[in-house]
Amino acid sequence: MHILVIGAGGREHALCWAIANSPSCDALYCAPGNGGIADNAICVDVNPSDHNAVITFCRDKEIGLVVVGPEAPLVDGLVDSLDEAGIKSFGPNKAAAQLEASKGFTKDLCKRHNIPTAAYERFTEAAPAKKFLDNFDAPYVIKADGLAAGKGVIIAETRADAEAAIDEIFGGAFGSAGNELVVEEFLKGEEASFFALTDGTNILPLVTAQDHKRVGEGDTGPNTGGMGAYSPAPVMTDDLCQQVIEEIITPTVKGMAAEGMPYKGVLYAGLMITNKGPELIEYNVRFGDPECQVLMMRLKSDIVPLLTACHDGTLNQCTADWHDDTAITVVMASEGYPGAYPKGTVIKNVREAAKETDCQIFHAGTARDGDTLTATGGRVLNVTALGSSVSDAAVRAYSAVDKIDWPDGFVRRDIGWRAIEREKEG
Ligand code: AMP
Ligand code: GLY
Repeated sequence: MHILVIGAGGREHALCWAIANSPSCDALYCAPGNGGIADNAICVDVNPSDHNAVITFCRDKEIGLVVVGPEAPLVDGLVDSLDEAGIKSFGPNKAAAQLEASKGFTKDLCKRHNIPTAAYERFTEAAPAKKFLDNFDAPYVIKADGLAAGKGVIIAETRADAEAAIDEIFGGAFGSAGNELVVEEFLKGEEASFFALTDGTNILPLVTAQDHKRVGEGDTGPNTGGMGAYSPAPVMTDDLCQQVIEEIITPTVKGMAAEGMPYKGVLYAGLMITNKGPELIEYNVRFGDPECQVLMMRLKSDIVPLLTACHDGTLNQCTADWHDDTAITVVMASEGYPGAYPKGTVIKNVREAAKETDCQIFHAGTARDGDTLTATGGRVLNVTALGSSVSDAAVRAYSAVDKIDWPDGFVRRDIGWRAIEREKEG
């Protein structure tokens, strides 16, 4: 089969790496791809927001499956356009992608189907939103309804900051994503992510992961897209996973189908493990980035039949096998990220570093010109390793990181700290 992956990040590199290893993949393309993806796929200059261009490319190259990596093209209805053109794809259509595109939509779905989540209200005006804060103590949680590049959630430590956040959102800080907002209860606990594939009816649970959203060591400083991740998440016992499937994933899949919006693709549930049990913080309608990188390292099964089955409605015939080993990924970012950072800085010795045992280096933002590799983004490389424990995998990943010669980049040195502390406690 000829396959096209849409996207340009570390997630898409990990997907391309896994797909390229599939016996059923005869040709692999990535639009637009990056300097590392070019090792696994033919990178093509097709703009994912030009649906006709994608369809023309698919017909020209006889593409049998389009795998959509990021949320933006899903929310923009690329899957709907491909469906209409009779081209098979992996990912939800526009209606189902509301699970990520609108926080209010998801909260209302949870309410209708009894899915555990923080108490909330939706607002389109500042005054009632501010008044609703009366129901909670600090910290306050305020969320722009729409897609805001991971920046639309504000956890305010004081009432004044919470009111300022409401004014900022309605003042246009997040553009039209802030035409509406959600005020919700602050949940206490440990966060974890749970991934499941679904074809709209059947559910194939995948595995768990934890990421590090803050830029600084000890989980401090501003939020980023994620500075590292590991899988599995030790906090997610088998019983908790079962509870998440029964109380959160299954009612979501059934509810979406019953309401005429069957969800097909990967459901990425962001969870808070509270003392009452797991509660849904949010859904993403795509694989996590960098969580996908650790998932792909652990996946033993051929990924292509799994992705195809989500489209075909045959997921009940599939199983997924995993390495018992832990996988960790350390993000190397451009100095300055998540603020302003220079572009075009030169990175050396990446291929040499990737020779570390059980290590893969996925590229998130690079360009290659001959033998020269340069950084093109904030998050640039995802140094990923398998090990018998988080500590063991971390030693491998950081050993590879230390071989990379990139004076303009930085890493967090403590990826996996929570799991490593658990391992030390034994
Ligand atoms: P999101 O962008 O929705 O992933 O949210 C960013 C982060 O905000 C989450 O990973 C949580 O750490 C935090 N968060 C969101 N909602 C809540 C909540 N209701 N209670 C506590 N923390 C939250
Ligand atoms: N790493 C967080 C995300 O992909 O949304």
